[in-house]
Amino acid sequence: MERRLQTLFPSAVQITEVDVARSLNRRLLRQIEIIRAATPNGRPDSWSSSVYTTLNTADQLHQKAEFSDLHRIILDEAMRFADALMINHRDFPLRVMDCWFNIYGPKDGQEIHNHPNNIISGSYYVKASPGCSGIMFHSARADSMLLPPMTAVNSFNQSVAELAVHEGMMVIFRSSLKHSVRPSPTDEERISVSFNLSM
Ligand SMILES: [Fe+2]
Repeated sequence: MERRLQTLFPSAVQITEVDVARSLNRRLLRQIEIIRAATPNGRPDSWSSSVYTTLNTADQLHQKAEFSDLHRIILDEAMRFADALMINHRDFPLRVMDCWFNIYGPKDGQEIHNHPNNIISGSYYVKASPGCSGIMFHSARADSMLLPPMTAVNSFNQSVAELAVHEGMMVIFRSSLKHSVRPSPTDEERISVSFNLSM
């Protein structure tokens, strides 16, 4: 008998090592400290941890001159990702809709969520020391069915995957892909700049 297993609906996650990260991060960290000192925590009430975020208080950072280099890299990388997914950004240009930063202190994490009403989302890691939390991705199948016992994890049964992150790394994915951050196991702050793109 002949049989085959076919993979349907895989989830693409693009990982980019930003080549100018060292100088870019130095400049971004300076700006982040300035904004942090002047901006109240914009953390939504629904977030359980005490993470500092400008999500509700300064979410247009891509429009600031100090973030223009990062803005250009986000657009370039989002277009590469869109090309891989055959998203027609030539006729319908992608635009960054919002861009904010998050500072995770010890034990700070983030619940499972996605970014509704956007097409492409991502994060760039400005400060991420070894051993810090990565980004957890959650399969859509995880919340729909009873999970049977597994003898091993493979790409057909995996419902969650943690991607380790480090400084200078940019992660890009479809906005619908659920993700989370487990409570930070280190004392070092973990700083990410997150963004959404639409057309
Ligand atoms: Fe997110």
